[in-house]
Amino acid sequence: MASKSRRWPDGKDAPRPTRPTIVKVHSLRHALLAQVGGLLVVLLIAMALARIIHVEIAGILIILAMLQGGIAAMISLRQNAPGWWLLIHMGFAPLAVIVQDLQLAPGWYLAGFLLLLAIFWRTDQSRVPLYLSNRATSRAVIDLLPKAPGRIIDLGCGTGSLLSRLARARPDCHCVGIEHAPLPWLIARLRTLGLPNVTIRRGDFWPESLAGYDFVYAFLSPAPMPRLWEKACAEMAPSALLVSNSFDVPGISVLQEVRVGDRRGTRLHCYRPNKTNDSAAFPGIPPGPDQE
Ligand SMILES: C[S@@+](CC[C@H](N)C(=O)[O-])C[C@H]1O[C@@H](n2cnc3c(N)ncnc32)[C@H](O)[C@@H]1O
Repeated sequence: MASKSRRWPDGKDAPRPTRPTIVKVHSLRHALLAQVGGLLVVLLIAMALARIIHVEIAGILIILAMLQGGIAAMISLRQNAPGWWLLIHMGFAPLAVIVQDLQLAPGWYLAGFLLLLAIFWRTDQSRVPLYLSNRATSRAVIDLLPKAPGRIIDLGCGTGSLLSRLARARPDCHCVGIEHAPLPWLIARLRTLGLPNVTIRRGDFWPESLAGYDFVYAFLSPAPMPRLWEKACAEMAPSALLVSNSFDVPGISVLQEVRVGDRRGTRLHCYRPNKTNDSAAFPGIPPGPDQE
């Protein structure tokens, strides 16, 4: 449901900050600190055990690794990290010990690293991994598209699955996808080869101006949402719509929230950062009380 917005001094409507959203972001520096903290405690325990009861460390390595994981998880709990980080902390050292026992050739580690790099690229910087919008979400997004022909952008288009569905449903619109991870970008390029109304570019979407787009779609993570909102407010045209899959903009009222009705309970958060009264442009978005 759209909520009433306030006005900036220049007379433009601006969405009103509402409930504060707590965005839990665990930086890699914090993760490293938790791991090192666990390692230091376990090292002290191991040294004490070796001195006092002359125990063979190699024989209890897996137990020490599990202990290290538990301590790292406890530290990350104190750091207020999201729940899934606890599992990563608990599993990291024990898995390293188990994999070491498999005695794999070093080339396998390099190959695994390169494959993950090609799929996820610099997730450590972007804080946005690869996961894809499903079919039900694509259908809901198609219903939100502007009535008139226009330009659509998918920020971080992944393998281009959503964008190719949009392009097929709306041949009158031009769809642009920007993706920085090499493997998803390549798949997106191949997948959209026969679609004349799609452009897939490899690179960072942040320098791309949003000024020329009527519909901006983002399926990212909580981390970049405040920055995306700032960019959208600075660049998007007054009638343009920003739709964020799953992740809302902290403290900003949505124009409309669409429940997709799929198994994962997807919600599309719709914003018009530089809102106008042009409710006819997007038939899928009913006008809010302040837009009538
Ligand atoms: C959650 S996936 C969504 C994929 C696609 N938009 C979809 O809905 O199916 C987010 C994608 O954004 C990409 N990404 C994250 N930050 C990016 C950036 N700064 N520039 C380009 N791509 C980025 C990631 O590599 C990932 O493929």
